[in-house]
Amino acid sequence: MSLLSKINETKAYLQSKGIEKPDFGLILGSGLGELAEEVENSIVIDYADIPNWGQSTVVGHAGKLVYGELSGRKVLALQGRFHYYEGNPIETVTFPVRVMKALGATGLIVTNAAGGIGYGPGTLMAITDHINLTGNNPLIGENLEEFGPRFPDMSDAYTTSYRQVANKVADQLGIKLEGGVYLGVSGPTYETPAEIRAFKTMGADAVGMSTVPEVIVAVHSGMKVLGISAITNFAAGFQSELNHAEVVEVTEKIKENFKGLIKAILKEL
Ligand code: HPA
Repeated sequence: MSLLSKINETKAYLQSKGIEKPDFGLILGSGLGELAEEVENSIVIDYADIPNWGQSTVVGHAGKLVYGELSGRKVLALQGRFHYYEGNPIETVTFPVRVMKALGATGLIVTNAAGGIGYGPGTLMAITDHINLTGNNPLIGENLEEFGPRFPDMSDAYTTSYRQVANKVADQLGIKLEGGVYLGVSGPTYETPAEIRAFKTMGADAVGMSTVPEVIVAVHSGMKVLGISAITNFAAGFQSELNHAEVVEVTEKIKENFKGLIKAILKEL
């Protein structure tokens, strides 16, 4: 089946379950999925029941699609995303964003846990731009003209006006929101210290194993994007060792601030 037919089939399935036009797609990263539990008048669907949908395998990622209202806006939230390192085809990783767009979402809020290059654990960082070192691009292959052009402009991938709102809201809440460049890799290994030194020279402020593919697909189809990284650790070489337990633990500590920030931003976007 063609990608377009799959998108349409999945869209029709979700509509048959009562999902209408979302204002925003929401992708909730490692340990940040709890926000979906605050969605009101929700329709919750297990990933396993959705046609053409991938499966989520990482600890801390629930695997549910949640539609409803958050801060008075209609959201379609992914509680758990698909990573390239899980062995998912890149098309599967980005498929939910295609479906969000097909359902009518005009904005995407994407969150992740990331290693800090300069920034330390506990920092919240609005992504200003990205560097794609995943070794892939989700738009390789036939272009879906219905969604966007063959050669999309990535000059304002992380929509400036959304980031301005995020900064204003963070100030009002007294939450420190940094800004910086997210460098996306495939994982699943954490980086070597030499890689991190190279990434620093390249201009990266944070490194992670997600987000870049989804944002490329969103930008292609003209969606506006806000990306927020929760820095969970110093990247390799800046601390003695890296492990997923620390990522989960630090996310646990910052998630209240994080949830409050996203809810307040949604109200203002
Ligand atoms: N590197 C890559 N991905 C990550 C990291 C990291 O240090 N921390 C959380 N996700």
